[in-house]
Amino acid sequence: MSNNLLVTILLSVLVYREATAATNRTFPDYFKFGIATASYQVEGAWNEDGKGENIWDHLCHTNPTFVDNGDNGDIACDSYHKYKEDVALLKDLGVDYYRFSLSWSRIIPLGLAGSPVNQAGIDYYKSLIQELGDNGIEPMVTIFHWDLPETLQEFGGFPNPELEEHFAYYARVVFENLGDSVTYWTTFNEPLQTCHQGYSTGTMAPGYKSSGLAEYKCAHTLIKAHAKAYHIYDEEFRPQQQGYVGIVADTTWFEPASDSDADQEAAERALQFNYGWYINAVVNGNYPAVMIERIDERSKQQGFETSRLPKFTEEEIEYIKGTHDYLAINAYTTVYAQAKEETDPTVVSYESDLNVDTFIDESWEQSASSWLRVVPWGLRNLLNWLSKTYNHPEIFVTENGVSDLGGLDDDRRINFYQEYLSNVLEAILDDGVNVTRYTAWSLMDNFEWARGYTEKFGMYSVNFDNPGRPRTPKASASYYAQVIASRCLVDTCE
Ligand code: NOJ
Repeated sequence: MSNNLLVTILLSVLVYREATAATNRTFPDYFKFGIATASYQVEGAWNEDGKGENIWDHLCHTNPTFVDNGDNGDIACDSYHKYKEDVALLKDLGVDYYRFSLSWSRIIPLGLAGSPVNQAGIDYYKSLIQELGDNGIEPMVTIFHWDLPETLQEFGGFPNPELEEHFAYYARVVFENLGDSVTYWTTFNEPLQTCHQGYSTGTMAPGYKSSGLAEYKCAHTLIKAHAKAYHIYDEEFRPQQQGYVGIVADTTWFEPASDSDADQEAAERALQFNYGWYINAVVNGNYPAVMIERIDERSKQQGFETSRLPKFTEEEIEYIKGTHDYLAINAYTTVYAQAKEETDPTVVSYESDLNVDTFIDESWEQSASSWLRVVPWGLRNLLNWLSKTYNHPEIFVTENGVSDLGGLDDDRRINFYQEYLSNVLEAILDDGVNVTRYTAWSLMDNFEWARGYTEKFGMYSVNFDNPGRPRTPKASASYYAQVIASRCLVDTCE
């Protein structure tokens, strides 16, 4: 038996024991519970009241085989019309806050800096925020969650540096119009997926496959756009509005396959190429050293005159550094990371720049999403890594959840939340990690991108065959409501 296999088996025995025992301690008073959705995934009303086309509208309409069953977000959960009902569901759950996103092309139909603002779009979000406020629920607003106005894509999308100016214009419009009633802002949701899946694997809109090339340009513009929005808020709005701005990044937890130096380095490198790519930039002003070194060196070997990883100037580094008021993580799953022989240096790709092998333990519970295995202890390890790597910041878990194929008796989802939340609480109480918010994904079943409506993440089921899109609570909704009310994960806490 190989050492790796032995380690894997031993780890799974330990994990199994940990995973089945949720802690009976209570969440601290300051800790807040929320739940999330995103505009394209729930709103529908894709061409109503002046909304412009975005890249997901465009992709679903022009290339229907891209999404399972040819599904699209034209109607989705119809939250554009049913937002009051959604707020009633949030109230039933008892959440402290609702994390949702704004549709750029609903607010600025063409997306372009200086182009007209659609008042009906602003009014929709004002009404939603008002309804939340009337029900004592805080809005946590994501400015961009993947639905880029199609016109901006025609200008090249994120790899075009001009995108920074368009985003800055949009951010100023939303701070100006909505900022009086919003305290927590997020510029971008999961930039890794915008750039990697959008421009490298091509599995998300706009669906380009330019691995190790356009994706690095995408990230470069996006990070600068984030920093610009942060400074706009800081200088023009923070003095009156007193809010907070951050960026929500995601990563899989990469557990070293063994305690060898090579495997430890491989896991660290993978974390830096995923989470650090964006967060090292906003915290320290630049890409992680390991990315710069590897991509510069490989680009040189490949005969590029300059690195495929764009450079920030000294001035930009100073401008980008520290542009975050909180650290946020979207976290779902874990893989083992293992050192790998260097591949052919001529291959131009993100994967060869990273050069890490990954594998999973087949005994980990499989969700309905191929990429998502249930590994609760991975979240605790990830929270510890974040705390150590970024100097013990306040951390928000901005997404965590699990998919199935449907049904109201979602006991496996209850187990998921119980076990993952237990690991969050242990990270706080036993490891001293400063996690202050936890956000479940998602309020209701919705448009799961290329998987359409097949994979369900909601605590409320939505009947997509019924034009009224009725919502029905699942067992997990009662469980989450009970956790929030009691601040306890089991029947009785100490
Ligand atoms: C991350 C994304 O932010 C969200 O849009 C997606 O639905 C969930 N993960 C589940 O895949």
